[in-house]
Amino acid sequence: AAPPDAHGPGGRAGGGVTPDADGATLVEPTVLTSEGGVLEVELEMAEREVRVGDVTARLLTYNGTVPGPTLLLRPGDTLRVRLVNRLDDVTNLHVHGLHVSPEGNSDNPFLAIGPGESFDYEIVLPDDHPAGTLWYHPHHHGMVADQMFTGLYGAIVVEDDLPAGRVLVVSDISLTEDGGVRQVSQPERMMGREGETVLVNGQVRPRITAAPGERQRWRVVNACTSRHLRLELEGQEVTVLGVDLGREAEPTPFGDLLLAPGNRADLLVTAAEGAATLRALPHERGGMMGMMGGATASSEPVTLATLEVAGTPAEPPEELPPAGAVRDLRDVEPAARRTLTFTMGMGGGRGPGGMTFGFDGRGFDAERTDQDVAAGTVEEWVIDNPTPMDHPFHLHVWPMQVVEAAGATVGPPTWRDVVTVPAGSRVVVRVPFEDLTGRTVYHCHILDHEDAGMMGVVDVR
Ligand code: C2O
Ligand code: CU
Repeated sequence: AAPPDAHGPGGRAGGGVTPDADGATLVEPTVLTSEGGVLEVELEMAEREVRVGDVTARLLTYNGTVPGPTLLLRPGDTLRVRLVNRLDDVTNLHVHGLHVSPEGNSDNPFLAIGPGESFDYEIVLPDDHPAGTLWYHPHHHGMVADQMFTGLYGAIVVEDDLPAGRVLVVSDISLTEDGGVRQVSQPERMMGREGETVLVNGQVRPRITAAPGERQRWRVVNACTSRHLRLELEGQEVTVLGVDLGREAEPTPFGDLLLAPGNRADLLVTAAEGAATLRALPHERGGMMGMMGGATASSEPVTLATLEVAGTPAEPPEELPPAGAVRDLRDVEPAARRTLTFTMGMGGGRGPGGMTFGFDGRGFDAERTDQDVAAGTVEEWVIDNPTPMDHPFHLHVWPMQVVEAAGATVGPPTWRDVVTVPAGSRVVVRVPFEDLTGRTVYHCHILDHEDAGMMGVVDVR
């Protein structure tokens, strides 16, 4: 029988199935573009039959597809979403990374849209909203990992002055023989589940084609609930334009890039003749002191997609316009400093296996405000992780700049909304709470941890 905390379709126990690639070319999700400063969309959340490689699966979808449609926006736009909930469970919508109000019917993580209900969101981007690759997913506490793991995610692009390129939404899933999604065990929830099959735009190892010398912009979204992605594309020239939001003044070397769950990378690939595979290399993210026996941490490289470069050579690409200057928060004296500590405890908690997941020894409580911030200030937050596992820290609404990681000063400045804090270390960020006010959340983006209570409430007034 299914465990009482199991959600999502499928649900019948049974052997797993690992779908094979069907040889298809990468398909892009439908792109919905704003017109005259407004994008009005209906997102219907429902269980549907979806092809996953050579298998027919029953997944949860936005508008019938995995991923859902891509929302293409410009700074200053208004995004109106009618969210229609045809699931069996309560849900809501989070626009991850958008710098918009967290209150009312905007990016409000405390809303609960019941089965059969619909809700009209109105989300207004400021005129100076940073460009970048963002995404959306459900955010009802306790259900986030299960709903996302079953297919609910989609990309958002806030345009800049370069061609928008294409999105590659990476996710992972575990399917059963009857096309459902496999139940996840308590140890997997403790560690943060990793699906057996890794998908790109819902496809199994799709093919990407390019002409020799052609430059393609790939916006990679890590929509996995726990899996970290260290990408590799051997024999190809890859420039990291940015991570999460905006351009990087000095691009991170591609080989150094580690995408935590929730992070995005904006890549320029200049295709070199031949074939290459886009792979995710193994990343060790710690464990429960050997308890888990490495059961869920990825230990083998995983092929995400293949790149085939052939045909008539492309015209040499135009030179990139230079990246604009990024404000450096290291030059700002913070108005306040505070420390937030990831905590995990054995026994007596509401989490898997009776564990307590939280910050500063407390699990999430929507009624309690954990951090009171004065609006109009820059704060310094020390994110401390004394636990034996990595935890990716995500703050809603306000982007962060990392000023110190594992004791080393970092720079030049970039804007992030998810920052991994490796086991046994701390990361120092600065956050400009200078515009927008409201009450929202920060949490671990290993969503099993968030669902188990590793989330807190910040109120900016
Ligand atoms: Cu991507 Cu609070 O989430
Ligand atoms: Cu975590």
